Amino acid sequence: MLSSTLFCLVSAAVASAHTIITYPGWRGNNLITNETWPYGMQWMYPCGGMNVTTNRTYWPTNGGALAFQPGWFQGHATAFVYVNMGFGTDGPDGGPANMSNPVVPPFQILGPTKNPYPGTMCLPQVPLPPNMTVKAGDHATIQIVELAIHGASLFSCVDIEFVEPDSPKLVEVNESNCFNSNDIGFADIYTLTVRASGQGNATSDAESLWYYRKHRKGGIFQYIGWMPIVLGGLWVLL
Ligand SMILES: *[C@@H]1O[C@H](CO)[C@@H](O)[C@H](O)[C@H]1NC(C)=O
Ligand SMILES: *[C@@H]1O[C@H](CO)[C@@H](O)[C@H](O)[C@H]1NC(C)=O
Ligand SMILES: *[C@@H]1O[C@H](CO)[C@@H](O)[C@H](O)[C@H]1NC(C)=O
Ligand SMILES: *[C@@H]1O[C@H](CO)[C@@H](O)[C@H](O)[C@H]1NC(C)=O
Ligand SMILES: *[C@@H]1O[C@H](CO)[C@@H](O)[C@H](O)[C@H]1NC(C)=O
Ligand SMILES: *[C@@H]1O[C@H](CO)[C@@H](O)[C@H](O)[C@H]1NC(C)=O
Ligand SMILES: *[C@@H]1O[C@H](CO)[C@@H](O)[C@H](O)[C@H]1NC(C)=O
Repeated sequence: MLSSTLFCLVSAAVASAHTIITYPGWRGNNLITNETWPYGMQWMYPCGGMNVTTNRTYWPTNGGALAFQPGWFQGHATAFVYVNMGFGTDGPDGGPANMSNPVVPPFQILGPTKNPYPGTMCLPQVPLPPNMTVKAGDHATIQIVELAIHGASLFSCVDIEFVEPDSPKLVEVNESNCFNSNDIGFADIYTLTVRASGQGNATSDAESLWYYRKHRKGGIFQYIGWMPIVLGGLWVLL
């Protein structure tokens, strides 16, 4: 019911809408573009313009499900998705000190259209960061970052309180609140090391990289999927 409520809410305001976390919840509606947020709230690091909330939702101490709707995002059929966590309440405004803990490898979503679309993605068991242990009652924030093809990012967060995995406070996760829509595909992201840091001849390697990119069929702009390659200082040559 929550997701259908959100669906209606969002359908009403679809023109500039972005990412919605449907499970375990979200900080609140930040699908807003107005005079205060002329580019839209969701572009603001770290949580799309939303401050930490007091209505935390519960999440298991051994990690749990995460469901979101990535497609309320006009003009971008594809995007890269990152999921991070921040721990504690010692940071700005009582939130985490940082959001520097990735919990899943980044992946690409392949949407059906450049227009906003409603599909949902479900990550059924998002783990805690490696070597991180928490206890029931600890606070954290889950952040979803959606990296658009032009390099800017949309942010959405949910504030959580950890509970034991068998806690009755947890909302049951099943196909009604965590599911994958057929119309959203996804892809793995990888990088191709052209020159490792400190290795080889930077000048000649950069030249061959540029040559390679320039002469590939379709030119470089057809190969946006290639962009995360760590180019280091090579950009100055482009
Ligand atoms: C917290 O409250 C806000 C404002 O009412 C609401 O939009 C949001 O969905 C709530 N979040 C959770 C996790 O309940
Ligand atoms: C824009 O929306 C935000 C969030 O609802 C609100 O805090 C702010 O006052 C609004 N700005 C204007 C100028 O209406
Ligand atoms: C978040 O908190 C800061 C400072 O505490 C405040 O200036 C800002 O208006 C708040 N933002 C929203 C969207 O409430
Ligand atoms: C991030 O915050 C945690 C505490 O929540 C701290 O232990 C860690 O050192 C911080 N990491 C960075 C890169 O600042
Ligand atoms: C986790 O901790 C173990 C033991 O301290 C260490 O060997 C390992 O490198 C750590 N893993 C990560 C990803 O930090
Ligand atoms: C799925 O979980 C919800 C609570 O989140 C519950 O109301 C519903 O009955 C469950 N559906 C199934 C098919 O188990
Ligand atoms: C690196 O490559 C450039 C261009 O091919 C060449 O002019 C230069 O001599 C090379 N430098 C070294 C140290 O080999």
